[in-house]
Amino acid sequence: MADKKILIVGASVAGPMAAFWLAKTGADITVVERHEAMRDGGQNVDIRTSGVTVVQKVPEMEARIRAAAAPLEGMSVLSSKGQSILTIKSTGDPKQQSLMSEYEIFRDDLSKILFDFAKDLLNVRYVFGEQAKSMTQDEKGVDVEFLNGHLPQSRYDLVVAADGATSRTRALAFDCKVRDHMSSMNAWAAYSTIKKDLLNTSKTGQLTTSTPGRGIILLPDHDSKQNRVLLMGSHGSDETSIMHLFRQAVKGGDRALKDFLGDFFHGHGRDDILTAVEQSNKLYASEAAQVKAPSLYKGRIVLFGDAGYAAGPVGTGTSLAITGAYVLAGEINSHPDDLSTALQNYSERMRPIIQDMQQIPPGFPGIMTPQTAWGLSVRNAVLRIISYMMLASEYWPVAAPLGWLVGLYASAFGKDKYSIPYYAFE
Ligand SMILES: Cc1cc2nc3c(=O)[nH]c(=O)nc-3n(C[C@H](O)[C@H](O)[C@H](O)COP(=O)(O)OP(=O)(O)OC[C@H]3O[C@@H](n4cnc5c(N)ncnc54)[C@H](O)[C@@H]3O)c2cc1C
Ligand SMILES: *[C@@H]1O[C@H](CO)[C@@H](O)[C@H](O)[C@H]1NC(C)=O
Ligand SMILES: *[C@@H]1O[C@H](CO)[C@@H](O)[C@H](O)[C@H]1NC(C)=O
Repeated sequence: MADKKILIVGASVAGPMAAFWLAKTGADITVVERHEAMRDGGQNVDIRTSGVTVVQKVPEMEARIRAAAAPLEGMSVLSSKGQSILTIKSTGDPKQQSLMSEYEIFRDDLSKILFDFAKDLLNVRYVFGEQAKSMTQDEKGVDVEFLNGHLPQSRYDLVVAADGATSRTRALAFDCKVRDHMSSMNAWAAYSTIKKDLLNTSKTGQLTTSTPGRGIILLPDHDSKQNRVLLMGSHGSDETSIMHLFRQAVKGGDRALKDFLGDFFHGHGRDDILTAVEQSNKLYASEAAQVKAPSLYKGRIVLFGDAGYAAGPVGTGTSLAITGAYVLAGEINSHPDDLSTALQNYSERMRPIIQDMQQIPPGFPGIMTPQTAWGLSVRNAVLRIISYMMLASEYWPVAAPLGWLVGLYASAFGKDKYSIPYYAFE
């Protein structure tokens, strides 16, 4: 592969991980990121099942991820009166994870670690503040023109789309709109960092919910004077107007988004958080959506990470991206002179894993943010029972309700059952 050129579009989580593994094939790798730098922000993302397996293949990677873990000891679910109904702690065993993973790490910390692993490799180059203007492909390669003049027009043997759920590269490759192949969950999330510690130094996060369909998560940050905030909304399928307002607000920028959030959460009991978000200059929002593309590649353009298989609210997107990077690079390395077989194999190997990890557990994402007061009280009652069982399980392990939760969310929370092949890289 030493004579091959690969372009990776996007440098969040998927892009840097692909750069690291694809560099092992010897190809010349260029990563372009539209943003001027690695993006800050995001809450904790999880690494689970086959994602853990792949991370453990790289010397030092697991150790660095652990060292950067979010300072989070658990999560409390608060009742509408502000009392804790249930506190979930991590299990301490990465092979048997609970709702809280052993590898809870903030998205920006993870993407910086992955970036650091690839940035000094001789055959990897990052270019920020740039994006593709056009792509035209024939059987042998893709001609790419760039928008901002940081890169000359070039021909690549392969283009890897790692530009997220609303991938423009996917739209170019499949000649469709950016929202095609995305299925909306009628839910959204906004992420912010606030310059206040509303948790009073506690390292246990808080979820406050109210109806219909509102949730706010407050988490401790590395900087003990700050918190990270996740604001979420989920809507019935008849409430398309709110989704529409949300999409307009995202397009309108921070001011429009803050106005939207202020209206949406007005009178729902967490004005302390909203005031702090209003004053924050760190805000990012995205719709909860799954991507199900008809094919993972078209000619010499391959879909990868959220661009190919965003998992939406189930939170397995990061693990899928990490797994996909290893499989893609492994297949290319095994078929250096036959890219179409490599892409075909990548696609066949990933399909069943994607299908499994995209499964939405019953009640998701609504269980986090019930629509009705009745739904909320049912959820709270269930959580109270789980919480009693957790206390009981200290004396009677068979009752371990975490086992019950793990069973319920088997695909995402069980151990790695996907038997990812072992690829020998030179
Ligand atoms: C700022 C931010 C915060 C997030 N916070 C969370 C969170 O708290 N919890 C969670 O579960 N998930 C979060 N996510 C999503 C999470 O990163 C992904 O689900 C998963 O890790 C897979 O990532 P990805 O790299 O495939 O896609 P993404 O993380 O969406 O990254 C896509 C990257 O491509 C870049 N890009 C987009 N279009 C172009 C283009 N045309 N040309 C060049 N570059 C382009 C974007 O700037 C971005 O850096 C967040 C994403 C971002 C960008
Ligand atoms: C933090 O302290 C304030 C003021 O004493 C109190 O109102 C608030 O409930 C506390 N929050 C937490 C999470 O303990
Ligand atoms: C991958 O490629 C080889 C040919 O080199 C083939 O034998 C194998 O069945 C392919 N499929 C998968 C899923 O690995």
